[in-house]
Formats: sequence, C-alpha cells, structure tokens
Amino acid sequence: MTPLLQARGLGKDYGSVTALRDVSTVVNAGEVTCVLGDNGAGKSTLIKILAGAHRHDAGELLFEGSPVRFGSPREALDRGIATVFQDLAVVPLMSVWRNFFLGSEPGRWGLIDRRRARETTRAALAEMGIELRDVEQPVGTLSGGERQCVAIARAVHFGAKVLILDEPTAALGVKQAGIVLKHVARARDRGLGVVLITHNPHHAYPVGDRFLLLKRGRSLGSHEKADITVDHLTHQMAGGAELDTLTRELDPD
Ligand SMILES: Nc1ncnc2c1ncn2[C@@H]1O[C@H](COP(=O)(O)OP(=O)(O)O)[C@@H](O)[C@H]1O
Ligand SMILES: [Mg+2]
Repeated sequence: MTPLLQARGLGKDYGSVTALRDVSTVVNAGEVTCVLGDNGAGKSTLIKILAGAHRHDAGELLFEGSPVRFGSPREALDRGIATVFQDLAVVPLMSVWRNFFLGSEPGRWGLIDRRRARETTRAALAEMGIELRDVEQPVGTLSGGERQCVAIARAVHFGAKVLILDEPTAALGVKQAGIVLKHVARARDRGLGVVLITHNPHHAYPVGDRFLLLKRGRSLGSHEKADITVDHLTHQMAGGAELDTLTRELDPD
C-alpha cells in the first residue's frame, strides 16, 4: 500500500532557528500518526509543511508516492489534505453553517442555498453525534470540543484523504477531549489518514498507530504501537534519561 503522505528527512529553518531537522514519518489511509513533543519541539512546523502553509528547506515530502511541494494550504486541500490549525480556523461570530462551508457553500449564480447549507451542516454534525438546536448560532457559542468536531466533520464531509489536527485536545477537559478523540477514531475508521499532534501521550496512545517523538526539532524516534507501551511513551516524552536523573536527585534513596 502506498502511504498517503511520506516525510523523508524534512528540515526547516526560520532564519537562524532550526525548527526541524531530518524528520521522517508516514501517514497511511485508515491509520493515525501521532506527533508528540513539548512546546517548541517543532510539531506545528512539521504539520505546516504537510499542510502547505510552509515550504521545507531539506528532505522530501511525498503525496501518494510522488514528491510534492505545496504552494499554499489551498493547494494541499485541493489534493485532499485538510488541516485544523492550532489557532483554530473558525470565525467566532459567523454561524456554524458558514464555518462548516467556509467558501464552499452550495448554490448557483453566486447565491447561497441557505436551506440546503443548513440542512447539510445539521446532518453532517448529527452523524458525528452533535445535535445542535440551531446551526445559525455563532460558532463562538460552541464549546472548544464542539468546534474541533465541526472542523473534523467538515474534513470528512468534503472528502479529505488526510486530516491533520494540531493539538485538538490541548485546551479541553477530560470528557471533551474524549469526545474529540472518538471523532478522530471515526475519521480513521472511514479510511482517512489522520495526523494527530498532542503533547499528551494518554490522548495519543488509545487512537494512535504510530508515534513520532520530536524534541527541539529532532526526531527521538518513531514507534509502531506494537513496539511501545503508554508508560514507555510517557517516559520518553518526559525526557527519558533526564527524568531518571531528576528522580534520583529528588529521591537519592
Ligand atoms: N514563524 C516562525 N519564525 C521564527 N521561529 C519560529 C516560527 N515558528 C516556529 N518557530 C520556532 O521554531 C521552533 C519550533 O516551533 P513549533 O513548530 O511551533 O513547535 P511546537 O508546535 O512543537 O510547539 C521553536 O523554537 C519556535 O520558536
Ligand atoms: Mg504547536
């Protein structure tokens, strides 16, 4: 099976800052690739390259087996790569349905078929278990988890092949994070290749098929689920050897 996306030795500098160096990973249809790391690890930089928002300066990016270099997020989206950026791309005062379509509203001759648009949005959200009384309400009135779900529903509805989510659970409580992760799993079960960025191994492990660990722009390794436990993943995230040293220092006995 040809991977949907394949990163080979990707590198990116911002001026004198090396944000990413020699990072490789793969995204397969029907699988979740998790990207883990602390703040500043390079997670957002990596997904901005995959999403077409930034160009890489080193390495190779393959989409369905062919090298690509996207000029813009629109170009990536046209190939089927949908991204929900960390600074969530919704317009808070706009209605839920306008946010769902964001420029792709149904209609003819420049007129939006509002009734159809509202009904499509309602149905797509209901399919994800989100029952809204009124899709005319501003998206800003939804909870953080619901907003993430609107973005996931949008990607699924418009036939994305790859869905990239940058820290979708970061600002959420346990229950809402669980709901978002359930929708991540559903998108995966529908055959999308999902890239899930998080700094929480307990969010990544239950849904992930592979785990790419980044630290200061470098890869600490990529593990298939069968090769790593959640404890090991947590330990590596926390800095592995550094944490062991700290533990010994704090508790010398
Ligand atoms: N647009 C930018 N200009 C300059 N430096 C940046 C820019 N974006 C990110 N960086 C730097 O690149 C590194 C990786 O950042 P980022 O990819 O946002 O990490 P993460 O998402 O894992 O927190 C950090 O040192 C950050 O300060
Ligand atoms: Mg980030």
